[in-house]
Amino acid sequence: MTELKDFRIGVVGAGLMGAEIALVHALSGHQVVLADRNEPALSAAMARLTGIFDKGIARGFYESSLKAPTLTAIRTTTDLSELADSDLVVEAVFEKEEIKAEVISTLDGCLKPGAIIATNTSTIPITVLASHVGEGRQPYFIGTHYFSPVSRMTLVEVIPALQTSDETISTTLRLCHAIGKTPVRIKDVTGFAVNRLLHVMLIEAVRLVEEGVASPSDIDQACRLGLGHPLGPFELMDATTSSLCLQVQDILFQAYGERFRPRPLLKQRVQAGYVGGRGKKGWRA
Ligand SMILES: NC(=O)c1ccc[n+]([C@@H]2O[C@H](COP(=O)([O-])OP(=O)(O)OC[C@H]3O[C@@H](n4cnc5c(N)ncnc54)[C@H](O)[C@@H]3O)[C@@H](O)[C@H]2O)c1
Repeated sequence: MTELKDFRIGVVGAGLMGAEIALVHALSGHQVVLADRNEPALSAAMARLTGIFDKGIARGFYESSLKAPTLTAIRTTTDLSELADSDLVVEAVFEKEEIKAEVISTLDGCLKPGAIIATNTSTIPITVLASHVGEGRQPYFIGTHYFSPVSRMTLVEVIPALQTSDETISTTLRLCHAIGKTPVRIKDVTGFAVNRLLHVMLIEAVRLVEEGVASPSDIDQACRLGLGHPLGPFELMDATTSSLCLQVQDILFQAYGERFRPRPLLKQRVQAGYVGGRGKKGWRA
């Protein structure tokens, strides 16, 4: 049995989440293989990680001497069979069940017995994704829901599927601690815990604007100064995009009913293309 500190890590999906998940493991001394569908995605990810490191050094978050060893500990590939000797692989591809299913069953076929597959899905039940691996792998399948930006946010929601073994839960929790994260164990319910809390607030924030109670920027100010939030709800919707928020609220509404019904103003703004994100008009601009 490999010791936790020697765990070889695989990450599939070198996007916003996967690249930084690779980074936080490499920073803790793990060898990491980062996989994506094509070379441009991988070189863009490595360029982004270099930028994050440089900014982190300038702000005093990282030692400059760690830059070269950390970045060289991340090997990139477009071939999932190169993850074969990983002890734990994090899946962070697009949020589509068919795409995740294909990646997960390919991983199941090439990983050694006992290797853990951890999915970073935000909305697909872990027990559903666990059904895409064979019976022998199911005890080794788990959810690890990281938060963006992964290099700064320390929370990880750890979500066992119905079939996940206690040993896999304990190894995953220990590994999260070892890479400097704080895991919380959450039951496999739609939205897990944090998104349920967050979207109740986002929905109420939009309702306040609909009722003319306050402007988006005043509500943001109120949440920052009155509740100690680092970002207000409208800044957060602009950062993550209103279209993604609407998509998550539709899923929560399907699961829980009225309390997550997306507000008409949010739908209207998404229809108008005012979604925020890069270069698009949002609530604040
Ligand atoms: N963005 C967030 O704030 C956030 C937060 C928590 C969880 N998540 C979840 O993390 C996952 C990834 O989200 P993201 O925001 O990083 O997405 P992203 O679009 O930035 O990155 C996804 C990456 O997966 C790659 N990919 C797609 N299909 C692939 C395949 N078959 N094989 C290999 N690579 C493939 C894409 O090329 C892309 O680089 C999703 O499940 C999402 O729900 C996202």
